[in-house]
Amino acid sequence: MPLLMPSSLYGLARPFLFGFDPEHAHEITLDGLARTQNTPLACAYSAPRVDDPVQLAGLSFPNRVGLAAGLDKNARCIDAFAAMGFGFVEVGTVTPKAQPGNPKPRMFRLPQREALINRLGFNNEGLDAFLANVQKARFRKSGGRGAKSPMLLGLNIGKNAATPIERAVDDYLACLDGVYPHADYVTINISSPNTANLRSLQSDEALDALLGAVAERREALAARHEKRSPLFVKIAPDLDEAQVAVIAATLKRHGMDGVIATNTTLARDAVKGLPHAEEAGGLSGAPVREASNRVIAQLRAALGTGFPIIGVGGILSGADAKAKIAAGADVVQIYTGLIYRGPALVREAAQALLRDRGNKA
Ligand SMILES: Cc1cc2nc3c(=O)[nH]c(=O)nc-3n(C[C@H](O)[C@H](O)[C@H](O)COP(=O)(O)O)c2cc1C
Repeated sequence: MPLLMPSSLYGLARPFLFGFDPEHAHEITLDGLARTQNTPLACAYSAPRVDDPVQLAGLSFPNRVGLAAGLDKNARCIDAFAAMGFGFVEVGTVTPKAQPGNPKPRMFRLPQREALINRLGFNNEGLDAFLANVQKARFRKSGGRGAKSPMLLGLNIGKNAATPIERAVDDYLACLDGVYPHADYVTINISSPNTANLRSLQSDEALDALLGAVAERREALAARHEKRSPLFVKIAPDLDEAQVAVIAATLKRHGMDGVIATNTTLARDAVKGLPHAEEAGGLSGAPVREASNRVIAQLRAALGTGFPIIGVGGILSGADAKAKIAAGADVVQIYTGLIYRGPALVREAAQALLRDRGNKA
C-alpha cells in the first residue's frame, strides 16, 4: 500500500497544480519539496529505490533512471528527488552569475500532447547560491532508502545571457571550477534554445574550442582535487545525421565521458494547431520522443558500443524508457513525464528497465 501512495497522492495534487500557471505550479512544488525533504512529510513522495546497478563512465549508477536538468535549477531539492528513487539527479543549469531569465509568461502546458514549451532562459541564483545548496544536501550521508550505493549527482553548467558568445568558454570554465569538487559528473549544456546563440556552440569549430578548453581545465582540476569527474555534453534534437557525426567525433577527440541526448526541440510539427503551440521556446515531453530517439540511434552508430549515452526526451511510461535503451542509451532521464505522471513514473521506468534487463540476460 505505501508504494501506491505517491501515485494516488499525485493524482489528487495534479488538478490542483494544473489550476495554476505552469511556472507558479512549479514554484509551489519546489517550495513544498524543499520544506518537506528530510522530514517525515517526505513519505508523501518517497519510494524505495529500484536496485538495478550499472557501471558507466567509471561511476556506479544505482539504477538507470535520472532526473533531467532544469527542474531544480538552484539545487534546492536534491534530497527530495533522492527520496523518489532516482538513480541519479542532475541539477542546474547554473550560470556564473545570478540572472532573471526571460520575461514571464515563459512556460506553457500542452496537455493534449503531454508536452511543455519553455523559454525560461537559465533563470537561476548563480554559482555561489547553487554550491551552497549542493553542500547542504544530505543524500550522500543517508545513502538513500533501499539503496546499496548512493544516488549520483550531476551538476549542469551554462553561460550567462549577458556574456558574449565569443566569451562563452570563460563562463563554462568558471562554472566547472566551482562545481567540480562537488559533482559525481558535470554536464556541459550547449543545447538550450533559450539563450541566444548557445546552440551555435554545437558546431564544429566552436565545439572544438570549447571542449578543448574544458578538457584541459579538467586535467588541472583532477590533479588539484585528486579525483577525475566525468564530463558529459548535452545536445539538441534538432541536428541532422552529419552534425551528429561531427559532434560524436569531437566528443571522442577531446576525451569527453558521455553525451546527454537530448534537450528540448524547436520543431512544432507534432503540436500544430494546439493552444500555445506557436509560443517561442523549447518543446519537451511526448512530441520530442521520436527526434530524441533518432539522435540517440545516430549517436550510437557514430560512437560505437561502450561510449556512454544518457537518453532523455519524452519518457512518460516504462515502455518509453525501454525504447530509449533500445535506441542505444545506457541510462535515461525524465523531466516532463514527472509533471504529467508524478513521482510514480520514477519507479515504473526503473522497474521496466530492470525487467527488460532480466529478459535479455
Ligand atoms: C521547463 C524546462 C526547463 C528546462 N531547463 C533545462 C536546463 O536548465 N538545462 C538543461 O540542460 N535542460 C533543461 N531542460 C531540458 C530537459 O532537461 C530535457 O532535456 C528535455 O525537457 C527533454 O526531456 P523531457 O521530454 O523528459 O522533458 C528543461 C526542460 C523544461 C521542460
